[in-house]
Amino acid sequence: MSEDDGSDIEEVKDASVEESDMFKRILKQRKKIQSMRQKHNQLLMLHNADINKVASPYLQLNSNILNAFVLSLEDKDVLLEEQVPAHCIPIRADVREFDWEQLGSTIKFDCIMMDPPWQLACANPTRGVAIGYSQLMDQDIKNMGIKHIQDHGFLFIWVINAKYSFAFDLFKEWGYEFVDEVSWIKRTVNRRLAKSHGYYLQHAKETCLVGVKKRKIDGVEQEIEFNKEVKLSDIIFSERRGQSQKPEEIYKLIEQLVPNGKYCEVFARKNNLHDYWVSIGNEL
Ligand SMILES: C[S@@+](CC[C@H](N)C(=O)[O-])C[C@H]1O[C@@H](n2cnc3c(N)ncnc32)[C@H](O)[C@@H]1O
Repeated sequence: MSEDDGSDIEEVKDASVEESDMFKRILKQRKKIQSMRQKHNQLLMLHNADINKVASPYLQLNSNILNAFVLSLEDKDVLLEEQVPAHCIPIRADVREFDWEQLGSTIKFDCIMMDPPWQLACANPTRGVAIGYSQLMDQDIKNMGIKHIQDHGFLFIWVINAKYSFAFDLFKEWGYEFVDEVSWIKRTVNRRLAKSHGYYLQHAKETCLVGVKKRKIDGVEQEIEFNKEVKLSDIIFSERRGQSQKPEEIYKLIEQLVPNGKYCEVFARKNNLHDYWVSIGNEL
């Protein structure tokens, strides 16, 4: 092979490397533009969606007041990175300082669910597994103005063994009657019981206590209307999830129990955001 031939080949090689680099750059840029476009559209959707527009069939809110609570567009932008549902209503707040009365003057909820960050007292409560979020004293949980955001309806509280009796106190304090409980039986991918730690017994379930609050109109007690046609089970049997993460099925259960209701979740994380739910938490 002559020297000339060799350099020609080098040139051809260089050209093809350059071309493929350029091609890669164009592809990258095209992808970026596509994702920017997508994001822009999503942002527009969220912006236009702000509460009274999207959620109106369910929530019929006075948007001005509630919008004051809702995250700013930039914050939503950050949330969007994680593909949140378009019609969710996240409120980032510390429940100890949150203005429950103001939220309650805007909307009363039919169903409230909470999964409190219970303060664990014993020396090694999670057997060395670090809890990845801040915890709250019982009194701080009791002080929450739940009475302002619900006149009558259902309250679902996820409990741990050590907090059953305190949860019953909460029901009493906030004006609810304890009526039921939902057990989430956790399974592995192989449909076996997903047993985790426990002091006396190994735990493979979590419990959500259900309370009902009735209201009096002209001295007559009134219960919230709920779906008596579909007999819903008090058992959820589904795969275990990440730390403290509750099952997806609980949302379906609540939405079936009170169809087209106004739903609120307290102590929600990003993974909890759902369409037409108002979600409150300090990690949103
Ligand atoms: C048990 S986790 C909730 C887990 C959630 N149910 C799930 O399925 O992923 C409790 C949440 O309450 C939040 N939290 C702790 N202190 C809070 C406070 N003062 N105000 C609001 N949220 C708080 C924690 O950061 C955490 O996100």
